Amino acid sequence: MQSIIHSWHLVFICFSFLATISKAQTNEFTESKNYEGSSDLLNLQYHMGPILTSPINLYIIWYGHWNPTHKSTIRDFLYSLSSSSTPSPSVYNWWQTIRLYTDQTGSNITESISLMGEFIDWEYSHGKYLTRLSIQSVIKNSISVRYKPLPLNYKNGLYLVLTSNDVQVQDFCRAVCGFHYFTFPSVVGVTLPYAWVGNSGTQCPGVCAYPFAWPKYSGMPSGNKDIMGAPNGDPGIEGMISVIAHELAEVSTNPLVNAWYAGNDPSAPDEIADLCVGVFGTGAGGGFVGQVYKDKKGNGYNLNGVRGRRFLVQWVWDPVRKSCFGPNAIP
Ligand SMILES: *[C@@H]1O[C@H](CO)[C@@H](O)[C@H](O)[C@H]1NC(C)=O
Repeated sequence: MQSIIHSWHLVFICFSFLATISKAQTNEFTESKNYEGSSDLLNLQYHMGPILTSPINLYIIWYGHWNPTHKSTIRDFLYSLSSSSTPSPSVYNWWQTIRLYTDQTGSNITESISLMGEFIDWEYSHGKYLTRLSIQSVIKNSISVRYKPLPLNYKNGLYLVLTSNDVQVQDFCRAVCGFHYFTFPSVVGVTLPYAWVGNSGTQCPGVCAYPFAWPKYSGMPSGNKDIMGAPNGDPGIEGMISVIAHELAEVSTNPLVNAWYAGNDPSAPDEIADLCVGVFGTGAGGGFVGQVYKDKKGNGYNLNGVRGRRFLVQWVWDPVRKSCFGPNAIP
């Protein structure tokens, strides 16, 4: 049990965030824990396990109470991943960096991510407080209900559990904003890669929806002053988009926790998005998110998506450039 708990894959946004805060306050730019600059010292390695090279069939489980507008923002982000016709720099361009990762056979991460099914768990099947393990039971429920269950797609299914802002999840806000892992046959029947991301909007937007909200103790101005506006209108959802992107990048390159990660300890790995938390554009570091764009209303974004949508998504580690990278990089 202990080892199970230790091997969850977490987004340690809090940690890098505390680092960001202290840096901002002391003007200390030397100890940046992000790798925006090129680094040959970083020991990102392939550990011989499988990666997601087949077209991904994505299934969403909407857990709790969801607003249709928020759902369509998230769906549009997911559609944007495989939409090559959106103007650059796009979410599609962003995914091309993840495609640079290969497995033992030389196969790249897939280009194709399709939203193939959605399940609405509006009755909070496992309550309003979920443990990490009970998220697997939420998935089990979604594939075994009588009325319109999700398919059990063990070939190329990827399950994404999204919890509404009134749902508490173990370690949410305190240590994590999302995580990815794989299901256990004893709970779900098979081993399936999955990810969970929570809406932090009412619980901890300053932690999980940065930079759309400031953390409580950051010494930053309160109210809306100097907070970056959310391009789709809701900080909690906007924060989820970047965390969803983070988890999709990592679950694709490290689905069974034995493929791409840095560090020698598989139970506490640095995966390809962990290395770039808080980096959204060129020059990021020291409390600065990097150079991003502003829309007409002054809201921040760095990527274009389908239907004229704009999103702010963190960068990921580029194995060829050996640095964090995103398509909005200024050469
Ligand atoms: C596949 O990965 C290799 C190695 O990173 C890269 O050179 C190649 O461009 C990638 N192919 C695609 C289609 O991204």
